[in-house]
Amino acid sequence: MKVVLAYSGGLDTSTILVLLRKKYNADVVTVTVDVGQEDDMKGVEERAYELGAIKHYTIDAKKEFVEEYVFNAIKANALYEGKYPLGTALARPLIAKKIAEIAIEENADAVAHGCTGKGNDQVRFDITLKAFLKPNIKIMAPVRELKLTRSMNIKILNEYGYSVSETHKKYSVDENLWSRSIEGGELDNPYQEPPEDAFAWTVPPEKAPDKPAYITIEFEEGIPVKVDGEKMNSVDMIKYLNKLLGSHGFGRIDLIESRVVGLKSREVYEAPAALALIESHQDLERMVLTPKELRFKRLVDEMWSDLVYQGLWIDPMKKHLESVINSMNKYVSGTVRLKVFKGSLAVVGRDSPFSLYSREVIDYNTGWYPTDEEARGFITIHGLYALTALKVRNSK
Ligand code: ARG
Repeated sequence: MKVVLAYSGGLDTSTILVLLRKKYNADVVTVTVDVGQEDDMKGVEERAYELGAIKHYTIDAKKEFVEEYVFNAIKANALYEGKYPLGTALARPLIAKKIAEIAIEENADAVAHGCTGKGNDQVRFDITLKAFLKPNIKIMAPVRELKLTRSMNIKILNEYGYSVSETHKKYSVDENLWSRSIEGGELDNPYQEPPEDAFAWTVPPEKAPDKPAYITIEFEEGIPVKVDGEKMNSVDMIKYLNKLLGSHGFGRIDLIESRVVGLKSREVYEAPAALALIESHQDLERMVLTPKELRFKRLVDEMWSDLVYQGLWIDPMKKHLESVINSMNKYVSGTVRLKVFKGSLAVVGRDSPFSLYSREVIDYNTGWYPTDEEARGFITIHGLYALTALKVRNSK
């Protein structure tokens, strides 16, 4: 049997690699999709061969991840339950698509992933794999099938004579350009503040520099194109913002999250660039969209985020939502000024060629002014339903 394994180099997928060989007698081809996790890809490849892979692929999908996945998320101001920028949720369908492509190319009998039976990622992987795989290729989820736990995995690897690194023992981490997610260990006590050793991208706000930093971001049709006036490629821009904003203690998220599988979990994230870009994008939308567009887009954005979180990247509904999202983003061009200081970030200025804000109109001294008659007429009609209802109901 030949199995293509989605391999991250982490604890779960390392255990699976060994189990597939020893228990299922499989030839294992490992695939690591590089979506900007900090891991040294060379090290992951070496680890795969050390654990017995017959062949290893490293696929650099950073640009595709940012431009085909993350950019859509920015345009949709995508924050699940108002807080989580969906880093893991966005990367899973891309990873699954790449795995499916290689499984077909390699003529594999099955693909395998390291998701547990209690998380969202199994849903995201399985649905996308079903969309791209041929029906004769099986989907294996050994952690789910064998109910493997992290401590069991450590034991299994040790039994077969392989080492386990200290960080793998403590937390479960998933990382890409858009966010770093940290789960498990002490974090499972939702009343306890996350310990400092859970974080890697951000300094504690109290240790951030005493001077604020100012940054300008320029958007073109909803997509960030320049930072501080400099054109930057998409991947470098996100890396740069993560570093800079993280060094000011900005980007930590602590969320009691509603998983797809019916349970709440305590999730800790670091996502400096994602939070800053979404905040900026949304601010610019407030300047260029009409109130009705803004109200409607909020609903569409939320539905888009829910679909992505729930693993339904391939749901045709997503395309319909995106046509609305893209149509409104045609006007989201302009520049936003940000100030970051000791863990907090604020938009302190914005400008756009499509701005609906007009200083000439808003100014009390020199601007437009309705006549008293115009104002009274408007107010009479505007308040008519409410005042009528009040009168009718008070008379009963
Ligand atoms: N709760 C997040 C999500 O469902 C992250 C899941 C993966 N995180 C991890 N540390 N293994 O998108």
